[in-house]
Amino acid sequence: MGFRDDLVSSSKKHSSRVILALDFTGPTETRVERASRLLAAVGDSVAGVKLNWHLLLPGGLSGITGLLRICDSKGLPAIADMKLNDIGSTNLEATDLLFSNGFDAVIANPFVGAEEGLSEVIADARKRGKGVILLVYMSHAGAREGYGLMFGGEPLYMEFARRAREWRADGVIVSAKSLPVIEQVRRVLAKGQLILSPGVGYQGGKADLAVVEAGTDFAIVGRSIVEAADPLQVVRDFNSSMPAP
Ligand code: XMP
Repeated sequence: MGFRDDLVSSSKKHSSRVILALDFTGPTETRVERASRLLAAVGDSVAGVKLNWHLLLPGGLSGITGLLRICDSKGLPAIADMKLNDIGSTNLEATDLLFSNGFDAVIANPFVGAEEGLSEVIADARKRGKGVILLVYMSHAGAREGYGLMFGGEPLYMEFARRAREWRADGVIVSAKSLPVIEQVRRVLAKGQLILSPGVGYQGGKADLAVVEAGTDFAIVGRSIVEAADPLQVVRDFNSSMPAP
């Protein structure tokens, strides 16, 4: 099994379409401990986990090994949200370190192109059973200034969706706040390619029936869960607001 199958099977096992973004802020020395506590509380009720700079910068790879082990023990695929955007050799060095240290997938920017950019990363990930997820349309307001730029008579995100299909990416990121964009992207992707949608809760998007019907497979949720007084209840609410996986 590879990343995609692992994520889908974890989602079914835990009856959840939520990917938990472990975006802890505040004192750096307690972030990993707080993230471990949250995983203990909600780890059996989410489909996967996403980590980015919040944990990786203060702790480094060695500092988050324990967290990645908890994910592994719960069968939760761990996604590194590095939005990779460099030349191939640098991208490959980053993914080699991330994958060798327990990450199951990485998020990358298709803007960098395939040749000497992402092609070797995707080939290497496939060999290792790891995943590559491409940014197609981000969830912040400025996304339209970049991903929404017109290119050949259509928005750039359509070109990125085609790249995701052609490069056989495991999945794409499309904002939960843009149902028409999700629908357009879904029509371009191959069967089985996943759509992961951030922008839920704090950023104003909804994780509901409509977003799943538009084509989203998973909602990425950070602050709404991380900062909740009762995170498990919030996760349960998200799980019941979307159709079962
Ligand atoms: P919140 O707190 O807004 O966190 O639920 C969302 C998480 O997802 C990341 N994020 C994105 N990641 N494309 C991405 O790849 C996006 O459009 C996007 N929007 C938010 C964000 O960094 C946080 O970890």
